[in-house]
Amino acid sequence: MILAASRSAQVARAVSAAPPTAAVVRRFVAGDHTEDALRVTHDLVKSGLSVTLDRLGEDTTTPELAQAARDEYVVLLEALSTAELTPAAEISVKLSALGLSFDRKLAYDHAHLICAKASEAGTTVTLDAEDHTTTDAALDILQRLRVDFPTTGAVLQAYLRRSEADARTLATAGSRVRLCKGAYAEPESVAHSSRLEIDKAYVRCLNILMSGTGYPMLATHDPRLVAITEDRAKWFDRSSDEFEFQMLYGVRPNEQQRLAAAGYTVRVYVPYGPQWYGYLMRRLAERPANTAFFLRALSSRS
Ligand code: FDA
Repeated sequence: MILAASRSAQVARAVSAAPPTAAVVRRFVAGDHTEDALRVTHDLVKSGLSVTLDRLGEDTTTPELAQAARDEYVVLLEALSTAELTPAAEISVKLSALGLSFDRKLAYDHAHLICAKASEAGTTVTLDAEDHTTTDAALDILQRLRVDFPTTGAVLQAYLRRSEADARTLATAGSRVRLCKGAYAEPESVAHSSRLEIDKAYVRCLNILMSGTGYPMLATHDPRLVAITEDRAKWFDRSSDEFEFQMLYGVRPNEQQRLAAAGYTVRVYVPYGPQWYGYLMRRLAERPANTAFFLRALSSRS
């Protein structure tokens, strides 16, 4: 129900306009502006964590909006470089924000320019994974970007039935691959739906990535999967600089610190920007306790 609401413009307007929403948003989103992103990044890096920044925005519908999204990333990369926050901070990009749904070439061109700016700024880019109808196009664009920018990161969603095969293709030398469970409402024909099946699929993809020669980025807050990842690192003889953990801003911050103190690289995914609605709804859908927190805040007058 929440994922359906995440695509409703009517619900978006109602939720965004409710004043108490701001307090909930702040838990998961750095703020509306580049300065907010820089402030949060600075604090996280100072505390020993790495960062990947997502300028929020998806389902862009016009070339003008796609160009604006690209330009926001350029501004961000220049600011990160000036603030000497690279390479500790990299960026995450959704191809739909760059126009993928109406002009694949435009999305590629914008992504290419962002990768070039990231390279100048001394950092790199990871292409977020979106709903399954975009997977082929995203992986195709990834391969083309990697010709000029080999460190461009891919994202695989363990719930997709195809991801084990994609993991095998991507587990090659130098290939940065984020593995997450997957956050979109997908049909049974393309994705596992039970928690157990998704967790088992995650472990199968994890095994492929950790036994390969690429650089796995394990994006999960799930304590069992974190423990299995630590176990596989020993099993496949990977040192702590040969893979990393990734978690979302505002989710299990103590665990982020614990893993960093244990010597692992922990990268925090920090979203920012005024278009936080779809992102927030996906976070709420993941955890009933978040929804209760959100509803309490909405019904509170304080
Ligand atoms: P799961 O949802 O089973 O949660 C395990 C435990 O973690 C919970 O019991 C709870 O303790 C805690 N937890 C998880 N989510 C929480 C939340 N929102 N609030 C509070 N506690 C929470 N997806 C996608 O489709 N494309 C993408 O590109 C990305 N990118 C991405 C980057 C990074 C760095 C992360 C961490 C995640 C993503 N995701 C994503 C989202 C991912 O697919 C998935 O939806 C969430 O990470 C939740 O899955 P977990 O593996 O954490 O397990």
